[in-house]
Amino acid sequence: MDLFRLDGRVAIITGGSRGIGFGIAQAYAQAGAHVVLTARTEATLTEAVAAIQADGGSAESFAFDMADLEAGSAMVEQVVATRGKVDILVNNAGLNVRETATDLKPESFDFVQSVNLRAPIFLSQAVGKHMLAAGSGKIINIASMSSFLGLSKLTSYATSKAAILQATRVMSSEWAQHNVQVNAIAPGFIVTDMNRKLWDNEPVKNWVLGNTAARRLGTVDDLLGAAIFLASPASNFITGQCIIVDGGIMNAGPWPL
Ligand code: NAI
Repeated sequence: MDLFRLDGRVAIITGGSRGIGFGIAQAYAQAGAHVVLTARTEATLTEAVAAIQADGGSAESFAFDMADLEAGSAMVEQVVATRGKVDILVNNAGLNVRETATDLKPESFDFVQSVNLRAPIFLSQAVGKHMLAAGSGKIINIASMSSFLGLSKLTSYATSKAAILQATRVMSSEWAQHNVQVNAIAPGFIVTDMNRKLWDNEPVKNWVLGNTAARRLGTVDDLLGAAIFLASPASNFITGQCIIVDGGIMNAGPWPL
């Protein structure tokens, strides 16, 4: 099981204050990593760090808006200055603005791209420089089933999530020879603050359950195996890939025959 340990690693998890990011941070801390959580709100970050420390983990946090690329770079430099390196980056922070294609506004489109696409690419660049110099590193981009499916009202979000997969592939090609692996995880429907209200809507919930082969919504815990695998030595020869963790919604669900 040592293949899956992260002892001594320094891992940055964006959007680490709650939901999927917090779950990944907890799992990495339990696997032995020092975790650096980022998000916008200082208070929720402080609570998240305290929860990880209460479980015996090592954690710190930085509050800034992902759209602010300079703040992201400054955070990376500070982590390298104090910890000497960054081994793992999980580009998890993300948001969604639901608009039909006819109502789509340029401002909301740009806003979604700035957080879901531009920020992870440039944060990867900032971290990647140090990883390339060190000769090792793991970058994990949190994509989505929306990278593949054409779910309605998601032009901005789905475009950002499809594009991050292409950035994953290109960066993986450039950096593989330096032992830096860049991969993605595409979650299906996972119950978090991002979508909690959706599950009160019976037709929506029934559509999702009807089209998910596992016949249930996903939980944050469902993603942790893939997140640990892609951060650990167990995946050292895997790069430019996307692991879909969706309970089978990409299979179009069970056929009612
Ligand atoms: P969430 O809304 O519970 O958490 C999002 C995190 O990102 C929070 O920590 C928030 O503070 C941070 N964040 C958002 N915008 C930010 C900004 N401008 N600057 C700094 N931090 C920011 O969402 P959830 O569900 O945990 O999502 C995590 C990732 O997983 C996102 O990239 C999302 O697109 C992706 N995802 C989620 C799915 C789901 O069903 N929950 C499905 C597929 C992908």
